[in-house]
Amino acid sequence: MHKSYPNWLELDWGALQQNARAVQAYLGAGRTLWAVIKADAYGHGAVRVADALLQAGVSHFIVASLDEAIELREALPQRAFRLMTLYPPTTLDEWRTAAAYGVECVIDSLEGYTLACAAAQATERALPVHLELDTGMSRLGLTPEQIAPFLERFRPDAPLAWQSAFTHFACADSDPEFTREQLRLFREGVRQLQAGGFPKTPLHAAASAGMLTTPESLLDAVRCGLLLHGIAPTGLGTHSLCQSLRPVLSWRARVVSVRTIPKGQGVSYGARFRARRPTRVATLSVGYADGYPIGLTNRAPIALRGKLAPQIGRVCMDMLMVDATDIPEVQVGDIATLIGQDGDAVVRVETLAQLLDTTPHELTTRLGRRARRL
Ligand SMILES: Cc1ncc(COP(=O)(O)O)c(C=O)c1O
Repeated sequence: MHKSYPNWLELDWGALQQNARAVQAYLGAGRTLWAVIKADAYGHGAVRVADALLQAGVSHFIVASLDEAIELREALPQRAFRLMTLYPPTTLDEWRTAAAYGVECVIDSLEGYTLACAAAQATERALPVHLELDTGMSRLGLTPEQIAPFLERFRPDAPLAWQSAFTHFACADSDPEFTREQLRLFREGVRQLQAGGFPKTPLHAAASAGMLTTPESLLDAVRCGLLLHGIAPTGLGTHSLCQSLRPVLSWRARVVSVRTIPKGQGVSYGARFRARRPTRVATLSVGYADGYPIGLTNRAPIALRGKLAPQIGRVCMDMLMVDATDIPEVQVGDIATLIGQDGDAVVRVETLAQLLDTTPHELTTRLGRRARRL
């Protein structure tokens, strides 16, 4: 059926489920795996990912926004799962919506706490909430200095059902010492909170990178996205857990034209590639409008007929070119692999991210809506 698609994503739900089991085994019994499936499960498709993970026994999910949460609840009405958003609600209306859809929200500031108390009163329900502490990410959460003022306002009898306290690491893949310091600040913050009457709740801090580099940060739960999708955090691909995971996503495109150009001729806008020899150019039906970054121009490997060939010339909106000179059997109709495996040739999303000096998260979340998910 995919024969008519110019380019498409192949999603391997068996790999996703296997990864979930491997991550759960790594965590050991008694720790909760919160699967992070925000941004449409990093471009993989949140509803399908949630559905497959539910079948693998995962029942805790995290998205960024209420919109994302509502999409999941509406798409999977019969399934029982816990669902948390990362954006703290900023209006009573958002709290009401969260309550209506059974969404657990973050309280990350003094104002947020006051609003949550008002929302709980207005909705006449004990709202399930998570307290975020800022230990060095400087994004969301109570700072160490705000813990005392928080405790002054804290009312243990307020109708809020505290589900967890958590923090988020800023440099888990690059600076284990700073990560340990964040963990120390987190534990100290929790100690102060509990001494001031805040209830004992599950604690979590680690995302994928922290899980690998700082095992003492596993605590009661983790919030894991990348590893479930079979992608290693930057620089951590050799970790034994990463070695046991399988990428969920492959991205393929069709060869729509092949030509031979003479030595000296340019390829694509700005002629940023010039042939140093008579060159066989294969044109693929995929471009930056599908999410293939222009930044990979003249840099990325692309698999064709089980071999790697260099991408050449500026990536266009709907097309890009490959130097197929050394793979003479390439012809129109062939399938090229932009991410994934083709025989012995493998293109990893981590490799492309490294070429762009970005994270794998950015690459996969930018995969366009135009590419079919199969
Ligand atoms: C607060 C929070 N927790 C967990 C994650 C999951 O991170 P990863 O996909 O690296 O596991 C993210 C992702 O950006 C996040 O923002």
